[in-house]
Amino acid sequence: MITKLSIIGAGGVGSTLAFHVLSRVPVKELVLIDILSNVAKGIVLDLEDTRSLLPFCAQVIGTDDFSHLRDSDIVVITAGIARKEGMTRLDLLKINAKVTREVSLQIKQFAKNAIVIVVTNPLDLITYVVTKQTSFPRERVIGMGSSLDTARLLNLFSKCSTVGVSSLEGFVFGQHNNDMIVSMDRLRIKGEAISSFLNAQEISTLQEKTAHRGGEIVELLKNRSATFAPSLACCRLIEAIAEDKNEIIPVSVMLNGEYGLKDVCVGVPCLINRKGVEKVIELSLSPEEKKKLAKVNEAFQDVYNV
Ligand code: APR
Repeated sequence: MITKLSIIGAGGVGSTLAFHVLSRVPVKELVLIDILSNVAKGIVLDLEDTRSLLPFCAQVIGTDDFSHLRDSDIVVITAGIARKEGMTRLDLLKINAKVTREVSLQIKQFAKNAIVIVVTNPLDLITYVVTKQTSFPRERVIGMGSSLDTARLLNLFSKCSTVGVSSLEGFVFGQHNNDMIVSMDRLRIKGEAISSFLNAQEISTLQEKTAHRGGEIVELLKNRSATFAPSLACCRLIEAIAEDKNEIIPVSVMLNGEYGLKDVCVGVPCLINRKGVEKVIELSLSPEEKKKLAKVNEAFQDVYNV
């Protein structure tokens, strides 16, 4: 169980996450922090009005004062800007690295024992920035990206196979961008390989659609990005931590030689419990997966230079 959870950034993802948390996680205190104090306060008033409807007992605070992070068990970072149409990855990185560096220092000052979940994009690079800036052990800095990509894959897989999602297995790992690894060999329908259900063309369309799902949403919404699936995937991660579930979830974490990678954060399956990342699971990868995962080294050249 956890007592106090704080969310930094009360925009689309942060506010929706706060709602999911109140619906699903029995915390005593939920803090929503935003640089725009009126936004944090306004969202909290609206959230509080669901008290008798959900119902929940938590105290809910909206503020721009980071000292309210004090003694948080979990801090979620959603602060920064969402990707907008036409923006390069590097533009986004420059802005969000600055924001998350500042935020990390506040977490370090007020919540030095917290588990930090990073949602701000570009996810793997920002998870790295936060790991370095907080100096927290890697077990306590977790990037939420691949579990969202997995949820997207399973939805699209269900739609194209017409099999209900509860009968499907599979997961996505690697970078939380177009270079993610959507490995069809790891997809199963009740234990059966999918080649008996989908042809090669359908499989390749499924891979492509999964990798571009986030971008497709931005193209349609123009000035904002996805909120429902990212916030719910984050809430599931919070539940795995709070309830000490020992669940295997693909998350971005600093690698210390696993998969032949060092000093980079990237999505890999991890055993998640009340300590955060209890263990990085080393899968045996196909040569193609190995090659794709190693591309993370190129992506990290940007963050080393920002
Ligand atoms: N401290 C606190 N809050 C901040 C700061 C800061 N230094 N800088 C920005 N914010 C707040 C903004 O005021 C805004 O309310 O972060 C919030 C971000 O909200 P949105 O713009 O609505 O973005 P959102 O859709 O929630 O996405 C947040 O999550 O999924 C990722 O790509 C997405 O990086 C983005 C992040």
